[in-house]
Amino acid sequence: MTPFSKYLNILFLYISVKKVYCFRKGDTAKHSLSAKRRQRLSRNKRKREERRQLKRGLYTTIAELKEDKECLTQNIKFQSQYKEKYFKMWQQSEKEKEKLKNSRATLQGHSIKHSGDSSPEILQIQPTMLEDVSVKYNTLLGKGRFGTVSLKNFRKSPVAVKCFDSSSSVKMIEREAMYLRQCCHLNLPLLYGMNTSVQPYFIVTQFYGISSLEAITLNNVIKETTSIRIKGVEHWMHVIHQLSDCLLYLHNKSILHNDIKSDNIVVVQTTSNGIFFSPILIDFGKAHLISEGRKRNFSEATKAQYYKEHVHIAPEIVEGTQPPSVKSNVYSVGVVVARIYNYCKSKSLKEIAKKCLRAFSDRCTSAQLLELTKCQ
Ligand SMILES: Nc1ncnc2c1ncn2[C@@H]1O[C@H](COP(=O)(O)OP(=O)(O)O)[C@@H](O)[C@H]1O
Ligand SMILES: [Mg+2]
Repeated sequence: MTPFSKYLNILFLYISVKKVYCFRKGDTAKHSLSAKRRQRLSRNKRKREERRQLKRGLYTTIAELKEDKECLTQNIKFQSQYKEKYFKMWQQSEKEKEKLKNSRATLQGHSIKHSGDSSPEILQIQPTMLEDVSVKYNTLLGKGRFGTVSLKNFRKSPVAVKCFDSSSSVKMIEREAMYLRQCCHLNLPLLYGMNTSVQPYFIVTQFYGISSLEAITLNNVIKETTSIRIKGVEHWMHVIHQLSDCLLYLHNKSILHNDIKSDNIVVVQTTSNGIFFSPILIDFGKAHLISEGRKRNFSEATKAQYYKEHVHIAPEIVEGTQPPSVKSNVYSVGVVVARIYNYCKSKSLKEIAKKCLRAFSDRCTSAQLLELTKCQ
């Protein structure tokens, strides 16, 4: 082989190697181009998917926000309705308060001499000062252990005259009237006067009734022996709240009622549209001062009778372990609330009844009871 042909061979080999190399190089380039394209496509696809999901998420958020907005508007509407309703009720109760003040001023202002201290004198009302009411009304309002209560007119106003039989002493009647006289509360009866000079003795209070001259007790409402229906837990809660309010008022004056039961609570309507009821706690026949409370010592037979017939009396009094107290009065309210709960099932009523009916040491006070019944 000549050097020239050797040279040609080498050149040829070089060209072939270079060709293969170039071919391979082109192939890889082509390869990486399509890979990049694929990568780009999948990246775009992923991005499109992300955008779609974001859009979908945004739509859901917008829908949720719209729902929230509707809920809030609805809430605002309800709240403004409630605000209006309760504002009207408040206005009405303010008017009633004013009316009560005026009627006390007209009926007693000029007749009662105040001795200057906390024991004002009570007007003596002669039987001739009482007039019969029209016969179309049932004038017998109630019959109790000590006599009868009837509807009469006194200075053109309807009054309840509680007539005592001869077994009642003047002292007893004067005490009952004295407690009423010391109180001035929307949910306690307004005392007009009494008669302890000629038999039959009596106490005259303002008459509390609904529309016609009909007296309705809470017992009548619960037992449905009247056409008046108190519907809706908020109305019952209002009744209980007012009852608690007057109980705390009495306790702050160191007075114990000692006979709180649905028979001793009359109901009045306090708004013109007839949906709002207020309780009036009557019958101060068993009332005394907190300091006068004494433990009782009942026989087993009397205890059994109390548990059966006087369920509103707290067990610690029946057992003789405690004297009548603020808490024993709260227990009696608890019995009333429990009866209301049986009539109008509501969790909040049940809770209140439970707290009032607990054992003496765990039972709530009248102040706590008032708190419980607030804004329910
Ligand atoms: N001021 C009043 N307004 C309307 N009704 C009354 C009033 N006072 C008493 N009554 C009616 O008379 C009933 C007996 O009165 P109450 O004072 O409880 O007497 P008692 O000591 O005999 O239980 C009550 O249940 C109620 O129906
Ligand atoms: Mg009574």
